[in-house]
Amino acid sequence: MNAMNNHLVIDVKDMTKQFGGRRVVDHIGLQVRPGEIYGFLGPNGSGKTTFIRMLCGLLKADEGSGTCLGYDVIRDSEEIKLQVGYMTQRFSFWEDLSIAENLDFVARMYGIKKRREVVSQSIERLGLTGRQRQLAGQLSGGWKQRLALAACLIHNPKLLLLDEPTAGVDPKARRDFWEQIHQLAAEGLTFLITTHYMDEAERCDRLAYIAYGRLLANGTVAEVIDSAHLTTWSVKGPDLQKLTLELRHKPGVQHAVAFGSMLHVSGGDADELERSIAPYRKSPYEWTLIRPGLEDVFIHLMGQSQDNFAS
Ligand SMILES: Nc1ncnc2c1ncn2[C@@H]1O[C@H](COP(=O)(O)OP(=O)(O)O)[C@@H](O)[C@H]1O
Ligand SMILES: [Mg+2]
Repeated sequence: MNAMNNHLVIDVKDMTKQFGGRRVVDHIGLQVRPGEIYGFLGPNGSGKTTFIRMLCGLLKADEGSGTCLGYDVIRDSEEIKLQVGYMTQRFSFWEDLSIAENLDFVARMYGIKKRREVVSQSIERLGLTGRQRQLAGQLSGGWKQRLALAACLIHNPKLLLLDEPTAGVDPKARRDFWEQIHQLAAEGLTFLITTHYMDEAERCDRLAYIAYGRLLANGTVAEVIDSAHLTTWSVKGPDLQKLTLELRHKPGVQHAVAFGSMLHVSGGDADELERSIAPYRKSPYEWTLIRPGLEDVFIHLMGQSQDNFAS
């Protein structure tokens, strides 16, 4: 039964999957609350899609336990499959069918009663009215993705798993999409969303960062940043590329990365870092100690996990 007695929409631990003897998801646990927008970040190949497929019952986990929508994540995979909305990484439509016809097709697959009504409600909810006769193949990236969202909402799921929904979509369409997500979350829907965009990560209530199949950090943006205990300097000045190359191999400098016209220099040991940059803290460079951003922290975590794997 769908008990939901612990009030978490997703509550799993130790989820693990091996492919060809390699652990691509390695004991990942996740708790997601109702109405939350939870971000799932990490480099390509880190196991995000595999984890999502295990959550929604499409892939059998090797290890792990817990619940999704109150159902046992291992035993009740059929039930879970029917009750989550899953937007796959490279979603596709019938390009020769209109928006309305595509949605009707999806509604048919789910065996939805009052199909016509459900489809027209969904068109309205996602702001697709006026375009419903347009062929899916002729839609721009932003509208395609809105259609995809409508399609995975058609059976009225409480949880949406969106796998890189905004990859390759222009900034304006991405903003519109996120507004839609926030509106749906306010109506009580829960989201787990993978993304590579930092601005999107910052729009999530909480997030997890994974690399090499392991969960390296999770929490609110502020918690993730604080937990890294990273010291970051921002540098302004001429020929920062030359400075980058010089700094990269100094003790205490974990990374030196260009951010627009600035260089961010970060390390976990504030004193060692300060000693290494001391000779460069003069004209023409201008140094400012800043609060690290998410991207600084992710680069740092990534570097650390590579070290762990090397040793
Ligand atoms: N069905 C599969 N068979 C073998 N290897 C797979 C399969 N699915 C994914 N992988 C591998 O597992 C790793 C994690 O992939 P994936 O979960 O797609 O990562 P992400 O979504 O974070 O990019 C990758 O190295 C990928 O090649
Ligand atoms: Mg993926």
